[in-house]
Amino acid sequence: MAYSAKVMDHFSNPRNVGEMKDPSGVGEVGNPKCGDFMRMFLKVENNIITDVSFMTFGCGAAIATSSMATEMIKGKSIDDALKLTNKAVMEALDGLPPVKVHCSVLAEQAIKSAVADYYRRQGIDPTPIVGEIPECEACHV
Ligand code: FES
Repeated sequence: MAYSAKVMDHFSNPRNVGEMKDPSGVGEVGNPKCGDFMRMFLKVENNIITDVSFMTFGCGAAIATSSMATEMIKGKSIDDALKLTNKAVMEALDGLPPVKVHCSVLAEQAIKSAVADYYRRQGIDPTPIVGEIPECEACHV
């Protein structure tokens, strides 16, 4: 299966790339299957994600899914961002080849990890809100 036009667009022209100054939360997750990793920065005001950026040291599918995921959570509430699944991101990109599904999990986990960091910085235990950040199931096959 070839990459969709949307995947190629977000891979060649990723949105919201780079480090953020004074973020409200930073998440970092790695993909044990390939060793790639991703850092996600959030700016939160009144429970709304007003800005988001990412740095992905990984494959094209990981870059495209991070780019799309940042577009999908920008301006949304934290609750909405936590509901974003890798499946929804893949659908927004018109799909990924099956061997690349595990790459999309990084973006979902990075958002959860950044939100968890945001709560931790405020002295709030993130686990009841964010839950355990699950390991990628596709990475165990
Ligand atoms: Fe590592 Fe895609 S191969 S994230």
